[in-house]
Amino acid sequence: MQILGLSGSLRKHSFHAGILRAAKELLPKDIDFYTFDLGKLPLFNQDLEVNMPREVQEFKSAARKADAILFASPEYNHSISGVLKNAIDWASRPPNDNVFDGKVAAIASASTGAFGGIRAQYHLRQVFVYLDIHAVNRPQIAIPFADQKFDKEGNLIDEKAREGLKELLNALIALTSKLKK
Ligand SMILES: Cc1cc2nc3c(=O)[nH]c(=O)nc-3n(C[C@H](O)[C@H](O)[C@H](O)COP(=O)(O)O)c2cc1C
Repeated sequence: MQILGLSGSLRKHSFHAGILRAAKELLPKDIDFYTFDLGKLPLFNQDLEVNMPREVQEFKSAARKADAILFASPEYNHSISGVLKNAIDWASRPPNDNVFDGKVAAIASASTGAFGGIRAQYHLRQVFVYLDIHAVNRPQIAIPFADQKFDKEGNLIDEKAREGLKELLNALIALTSKLKK
């Protein structure tokens, strides 16, 4: 099984990049987990849709080969980040080549605030409806007070949060296997 991890933050010591590193450590070794740096993508421009930039084509290929996606989504202004929305917009175009169509996905978020980014998760779920993504519903992994759960380099060091993430990954694998049958 191949799982693509996407972080909606480009920050060097991003908590969300840290979530993806933790996921790599926590996933069973027979799962092929890989990431794509969304910072490589240009801003979406529909004029470029017919002849997509090379980086976009690489991103779409990376998404296409994945059985499942792990979205590590920061909450910006109670929604998803522009970085993530930009990537989703590229991935969904043109309409007959939405590379997320029918994929299974899980969402994890973290925030320095008390809500752990859960509002962004609900916005992302709304976007999933249009993309026809099958979302893992439980558990919901939204890590609050992230500055206490990650170290200075953005590594997830909180044991309880790591356990929660592992449960989410197990649920992602289980739903992907179920839908592949
Ligand atoms: C533009 C911007 C908007 C933000 N809005 C929210 C918000 O609405 N809710 C929240 O809990 N945190 C908000 N934050 C704080 C982020 O959750 C926090 O910076 C988090 O660390 C971002 O993830 P990262 O560490 O992966 O960069 C915001 C941060 C930025 C930069």
